Amino acid sequence: MVKYVQLPLIETEAKKTNYQGQVIETNGLGNRLAPEDRVFHDWYRFVLSYPAHLVSYYMSNFGLKKGQVVLDPFCGTGTTLVEAKRNGINSIGVEANPIAHFASSVKVDWDVNPLHLTQIAQEVANQTLSILAAQGIDDNKKSDPSLLQGQLRTLSDEQERLILQDSISPLPLHKVLVLRDVLSTRQAERCYNHLCLALAKTIVFRVSNLHFGPEVGVEKPKADAPVIASWLGEVQHIVKDISKVYNKEHPTSTVLLADARNISQVIASLTIDAVITSPPYPNEKDYTRTTRLESVILGFVKNKEDLRHLKKTLVRSNTRGVYKEDDDDQWSHKYPQINEIARAIENRRIELGKTSGFERLYGRVTRLYFGGMARHLEDIRQTLHPGAQLAYVVGDQASYLRILIRTGQLLAEIATEIGYEVVRIDLFRTRFATSTKQELREEVVILKWRG
Ligand SMILES: C[S@@+](CC[C@H](N)C(=O)[O-])C[C@H]1O[C@@H](n2cnc3c(N)ncnc32)[C@H](O)[C@@H]1O
Repeated sequence: MVKYVQLPLIETEAKKTNYQGQVIETNGLGNRLAPEDRVFHDWYRFVLSYPAHLVSYYMSNFGLKKGQVVLDPFCGTGTTLVEAKRNGINSIGVEANPIAHFASSVKVDWDVNPLHLTQIAQEVANQTLSILAAQGIDDNKKSDPSLLQGQLRTLSDEQERLILQDSISPLPLHKVLVLRDVLSTRQAERCYNHLCLALAKTIVFRVSNLHFGPEVGVEKPKADAPVIASWLGEVQHIVKDISKVYNKEHPTSTVLLADARNISQVIASLTIDAVITSPPYPNEKDYTRTTRLESVILGFVKNKEDLRHLKKTLVRSNTRGVYKEDDDDQWSHKYPQINEIARAIENRRIELGKTSGFERLYGRVTRLYFGGMARHLEDIRQTLHPGAQLAYVVGDQASYLRILIRTGQLLAEIATEIGYEVVRIDLFRTRFATSTKQELREEVVILKWRG
């Protein structure tokens, strides 16, 4: 019998969206960001990120000590890794999306001289400003893009097809591309990656027309926006955080670009003391869209093939990422509960007369999702120390024709079959889904590996 526990309530600064970007009713240990959650974490986060205080809660709940190793097999932008580093715990992150992997790697790299960072940033900014000035562009004054037509740099047609239409206006894009190219002449500098990460954040949150919540979308286009000053502002945030830790001893943090379903190929046996993570949910969200603009501009995704390759390395959680040759459903066949849900979805589809290609895949993607997670849970076992404790943050879903998927409960059942002990399931928060008028639970499944 699984034990359900309500997490304690903590008061922090208000934030209205959850890490899937949905407006939430918070109860329990909510998604609100405490000011201390921003240090390092804010260098670049995405809408999928969970709050840092959730990680510190479990590090303390698990009694993790210095010298031990925590793993986040779906590390996203590195919340677990940063929090582990701040608390003196060694960490390993695994992430399949190259820009998220890059962000995590930079966010745990604290050995960059802050004075050097400031100096190189200023040189790059000055050089960019003079190139723009020679083109008649003052970054701090609004320019009329129509007067500059023909001189503005653009993305290639292929790159344009990869990003959401109108996600960035022509003049800001031009300035970003000039800055990016000046920056790329400084690749040999130790602080180069930090400067690139600051540019990624500037592109998305200061310059683009993107908005997040619940899905990534495009809002009213900004004809112009200061790019260089915004970028320098982001660099200054990094400099401020790094100044506090530079030249000090830190625990190790390793970030691997890999698939969490094949983790034993990249992590040595019996090395992990705890896992704190949030995998994707079966919620019909294309996780790669969230990071598409900065991935394309910074060259992490160059063409359709790169995107396809990236999607194939992700656990299937939406029908846009399903391929004919996918076979993770093999792993779900032995779980009758998963087959039952997939059948219920398919029956509902037939009953409602829904016939689009995507709707026909709803049942299959559910099997692929749980099969992928079963594969991950099986594979990760050999990397765990006996006694390792694991926390998986997952949400219930009803995205497929309103059939309720109790993600946490199902994962707990799969984990039991695989040999884990299900210690309890914590309620992180609930979200009211207007489409189904149901309370959906976001839970933390707590497992133990006895070896
Ligand atoms: C909910 S997000 C995690 C967010 C993270 N906790 C944070 O705070 O930034 C899930 C992440 O899992 C990654 N992912 C999905 N399938 C993966 C796989 N098979 N291997 C590694 N990472 C994967 C996605 O790219 C995404 O970044």
